[in-house]
Amino acid sequence: MTDSRQSPPTSPTAAPTRRAENILGAEGLSGLRGKTSRRGFFPWLGLAWVSITAGFAMLAGVSLRFLFPNVLFEPPSTFKAGFPSEYEVGAVDERFKSKFGVWIVRDEATLFALSTICTHLGCTPNWLGGEQKFKCPCHGSGFYIDGMNFEGPAPRPLERYKIYVADDGQVVVDKNSKYQWEKGQWDNPESFVSMA
Ligand code: FES
Repeated sequence: MTDSRQSPPTSPTAAPTRRAENILGAEGLSGLRGKTSRRGFFPWLGLAWVSITAGFAMLAGVSLRFLFPNVLFEPPSTFKAGFPSEYEVGAVDERFKSKFGVWIVRDEATLFALSTICTHLGCTPNWLGGEQKFKCPCHGSGFYIDGMNFEGPAPRPLERYKIYVADDGQVVVDKNSKYQWEKGQWDNPESFVSMA
């Protein structure tokens, strides 16, 4: 006679688990499970910590970027240019061309500061002493020593800047004020120093 009572079906993992419980005891097995899950948990915690730290570092970097924006250091727009006696009649002084974009010119009666910006499209002309003219290398505009345009596409003369003699006797050029011939501004006494 066969036994009709059958044991309930077991899962394929049930037997090894039971075996492990026999060896470790129920508490031992759950402890082992806890240790295993803790061991898996710590690397994730570390990874999260690194990610959060990196996120904060990036945020700090962006904030600092706004606190210290790119600064373009430009030369001051007002500068001293020596004493009037240093300037020769009929000479173009190029000492301040590259740093300040200014030529200082002395004629019989005045000292004035010319802009080195071509009034066509803004290139920088060259002073050609032999030909007594400023010549723009871009499209060929020419200007006389006083800044007046006479050839090429430049539509108007070079501009002049404010110039005066300070209390210490030195010439000062102030690029904040410009004087344009076509507006009648070259007659403004601030646009030249009288040498008479
Ligand atoms: S920019 Fe000087 S001639 Fe065109």
